[in-house]
Amino acid sequence: MSETAKIIIADQPYEFPVITGTENEKAIDTARLRDLTGYVTYDDGYGNTASCESAITFIDGEQGTLRYRGYDIQDLAVHSNFIESAYLVVYGELPTISQLQNFRHLILRNAAIHQGMFSFFEAFPNNSHPMAILSAMVNSLGCYYPEMASNNREQDLEHLDSAATILLSKVRTLAAMSYRMKYGLPFIHPKPELPYCSNFLHMMFSEPYADYKFNPVVDRALNLILLLHADHEQNCSTSTVRMVASGGANLFASASAGVCALWGPAHGGANMAVIHMLAQIHQDSDDGSRFVAAAKSGDKSKRLMGFGHRVYKNYDPRAKILRKTCADVLNTLGVNDPLLDIALKLEEIATHDEYFHARRLYPNVDFYSGIIMRAIGIPVDMFTVMFAIGRMPGWIAHWRELATGNSPIHRPRQIYTGSPRREFTPIDQR
Ligand code: ACO
Repeated sequence: MSETAKIIIADQPYEFPVITGTENEKAIDTARLRDLTGYVTYDDGYGNTASCESAITFIDGEQGTLRYRGYDIQDLAVHSNFIESAYLVVYGELPTISQLQNFRHLILRNAAIHQGMFSFFEAFPNNSHPMAILSAMVNSLGCYYPEMASNNREQDLEHLDSAATILLSKVRTLAAMSYRMKYGLPFIHPKPELPYCSNFLHMMFSEPYADYKFNPVVDRALNLILLLHADHEQNCSTSTVRMVASGGANLFASASAGVCALWGPAHGGANMAVIHMLAQIHQDSDDGSRFVAAAKSGDKSKRLMGFGHRVYKNYDPRAKILRKTCADVLNTLGVNDPLLDIALKLEEIATHDEYFHARRLYPNVDFYSGIIMRAIGIPVDMFTVMFAIGRMPGWIAHWRELATGNSPIHRPRQIYTGSPRREFTPIDQR
């Protein structure tokens, strides 16, 4: 017999179906609550609301588990790379050799930017934030592929394979261009022989007569950072993508909205905050202990950035993976970054401290990713852009899932707390 839940309002019981997920997560399906009772559920920020059913990513925050399409993130980190995992996230299955070759080929073929888009870059002030440029450019891309961005669901789905590879490929080119523009450097064209991440680093750091040198450890590290960010179920930007898509908007418009949502400091901006915090500790000649003591005061502005997570109440599995990668990259590049020593010290102090233990606060993915990107030479104001490149497969997968499902346009209810009805007073009588 299928499980149900009872809600009792004014002594009147109402029965609702219970939905059970693959991993036995339970939800009470209250879709008919308002029709039956006149009540709605209230959950500010949706912290306890499942907004959809999704087959893409599973997270168990208590255990520190993250899986894409059923595969543990640790296994993907060891055996896979960003492009293969992107295919998995978008299409639901690991690719065969020929599927992967074709996917790679399409990504490579789509790396260049339409000549017309270069003039957009010229129009932005030099100090524009790269996330502002990226969201504008991702949406503008749709103008060059009107058949893929028609807002006709059937037609957009027909072209999804092309649209997905265009976005995955060009988001990286656009990101590199926004960096070059900011520093007044000439744009560098992609190279067909380079793999995804090194091609990005080439477009970022090559000079007209001095090519960026391929480094397998750096390539692997960047692959890992992007792979670890590929999806994270219904976070702020992904929910935004689904919300925009639910109105029938095309993939480019929906992904562009995702970039805007990610820009916020409470979402994609936390990795920058970690570096700022470590630099401050270094500048204050603190070994971290004074900062940790202040972080325990309860003052939100003194929080240990890169620690704690809304969902993970255990070590963020992504942080575990990046901790080791961080040391590898610094060793390979011969970088002696005092910020890494401070980060390790902070982790050491905090993980042995009762305050952090009791509140189950552990390092999150942002704690090490920033140090790695800094060592590679990526400036701090590009960190959120890197997050956007990594998250693109997730946004595409969620757009696809929504577009191929039966979800209605998203339209939450509210509890109105404004003024009751009042009479309008003409301006000369106020
Ligand atoms: N440093 C010190 N104390 C903390 C921290 C921290 N980083 N995070 C939470 N706490 C404390 C709170 O003060 C609170 O203490 P109290 O119970 O004595 O009042 C307790 O832990 C619980 O805090 P909440 O805010 O309820 O925890 P929540 O799980 O809702 O917050 C959040 C998660 C917002 C990520 C928080 O841990 C935080 O601000 N961390 C620092 C910012 C950060 O690293 N963000 C990146 C998240 S990962 C990502 O977005 C990709």
